[in-house]
Amino acid sequence: MKTTIQIKEMKKNKEKITMVTAYDYPSAKLAEQAEVDMLLVGDSLGMVVLGYKSTIEVTVEDMIHHGMAVTRGAKDTFVVIDMPFMSYHISTENSLENARRIIQKTNAHAVKVEGAAQHILDLTERLTVAGVPVFGHLGLTPQSVHVLGGYRVQGKNRETAKQLIIDAKNLERAGAIGIVLECVPDLLAKYISEQLTIPTIGIGAGMDCDGQVLVYHDILQYAVEYTPSFVQKYEEIGNRTKEAIKKYCSDVKTGQFPTNSHKFSMEPSLMKEIIQ
Ligand code: KIV
Ligand code: NA
Repeated sequence: MKTTIQIKEMKKNKEKITMVTAYDYPSAKLAEQAEVDMLLVGDSLGMVVLGYKSTIEVTVEDMIHHGMAVTRGAKDTFVVIDMPFMSYHISTENSLENARRIIQKTNAHAVKVEGAAQHILDLTERLTVAGVPVFGHLGLTPQSVHVLGGYRVQGKNRETAKQLIIDAKNLERAGAIGIVLECVPDLLAKYISEQLTIPTIGIGAGMDCDGQVLVYHDILQYAVEYTPSFVQKYEEIGNRTKEAIKKYCSDVKTGQFPTNSHKFSMEPSLMKEIIQ
């Protein structure tokens, strides 16, 4: 398993860091077997596996339920887990308690929080001191979609770009072990990456981040309704799944399944005795 120190070393050595989301036992197991550096139990699970409209509906219980399955599937991979909507804004005590429950129940290694407001910086410090590594998330922060006015590129003008640079530095100073940069112009993401000693993990943030993260179901095209332009599709699992299930149904209807090789047999004489 990669440790926080090794992940930081990878940045220094210019070795790209790979992260993919996982939401359950099989996705975690397969991603671990694929030797991904880090797993993220993203709150994107709300949309991707629970059918919610946005990440705003995701609860601490949802994260715990799915996080537990992920760490059972990937026993030897560094697992980051999202703190969901409003679970780290109410008060320090409430935030710490939510983080404690999420970490203790799931055995994930780090939590991820969106934004860099003062209370997030304070929480990052408190959690780090308490032994919980914190991942930051800047740029497009989906839990704030209605404040941002939609899912769109962030940091495109002078003020917002400058703020993003300040936010990233503040998170590093507060003790964050890495920062996800989502939907940020490539030059800005490159500059931020150069300014930090902790790794940046990009998604829609160009080629120069220290690592990349994508959503599992997006990579595989597994029952996703919409795929953002920054995603590379590596498979067509959704279509292949549909075809496989269609074939199964048609085989049952036409009597091509099951066959002799799928059945359990008994002596015909015994059956005769039974119905006598
Ligand atoms: O929830 C998620 O999947 C994420 C990644 C897209 C970074 O936060
Ligand atoms: Na997320």
